Amino acid sequence: MARRLANRIVLVTGAAGTLGGAIAEFVAREGGTALRSDLKGRGCEIALDVTIENEWLAAVSEIGARHGRLDGLVNSAGIGSLGSIEETDFADYKRVMAVNVDGTFLGCKHAMPLLRRNGGSIVNISSISGIVAGHNLAAYNASKGAVRLLSKSVALHGARLQPPVRCNSVHPTFVEGAMVDALLRSTAEPQKTREKMTRDIPLRRFAQPGEIADLVLFLLSDESAFITGAEIPIDGGLSAR
Ligand SMILES: NC(=O)c1ccc[n+]([C@@H]2O[C@H](COP(=O)([O-])OP(=O)(O)OC[C@H]3O[C@@H](n4cnc5c(N)ncnc54)[C@H](O)[C@@H]3O)[C@@H](O)[C@H]2O)c1
Repeated sequence: MARRLANRIVLVTGAAGTLGGAIAEFVAREGGTALRSDLKGRGCEIALDVTIENEWLAAVSEIGARHGRLDGLVNSAGIGSLGSIEETDFADYKRVMAVNVDGTFLGCKHAMPLLRRNGGSIVNISSISGIVAGHNLAAYNASKGAVRLLSKSVALHGARLQPPVRCNSVHPTFVEGAMVDALLRSTAEPQKTREKMTRDIPLRRFAQPGEIADLVLFLLSDESAFITGAEIPIDGGLSAR
């Protein structure tokens, strides 16, 4: 049976991280070529700080020279931040917006010339925090909400292209891995916080990275050819109530 991403070239940002790593692995497993990027020194083949426009231009130019096109882009680089509106410094807010929003904007913008050559699919990793808010997630909520609507604008533009470029946003709740571990460590009582966070999820557990990667794979593949501009929660039922 043909593999679902046979011969597809997919750029993944934040690929040294929990989700980016799982996504790149699943892309390769399904016959695609995963171009892994992350900050310099994080062990990926492409060093790309997503907040720096010139690094995007260099990465895209290199991919164009080597592959001549791009079939998929997954914007997974991101940082978390805990804090209410009163607790969050302006500098922290700007850092979160730079990585989560500017990084996704620059990726969609500068990968588009390569994606539109043959048509393609962009998947932006937002968060369930891009749909529902928390009192102590001011900067993160702002950033992930921005990714949600940016994705829809990109989708509407991409739908006018021939062949089209699709764009969708994925909204996970907590995923087992580095980001959640760091978040829990920053609280006074990590174990109690974990239990409370788990209680808030109707399926009573966090997501596994592979469960998010499976959804991203579907959105990259032709199985989702008529899905664009969609925001897809993958949250164990959290946003259903
Ligand atoms: N882990 C979760 O619970 C969770 C839940 C919902 C959404 N998300 C989102 O999923 C995405 C991936 O999260 P993860 O769990 O893999 O986190 P992670 O911390 O394991 O990985 C994030 C990666 O992004 C990279 N990164 C940070 N700043 C960067 C920059 N300026 N340029 C390039 N790379 C940069 C880091 O080096 C890291 O490898 C993020 O956008 C995150 O907000 C995560």
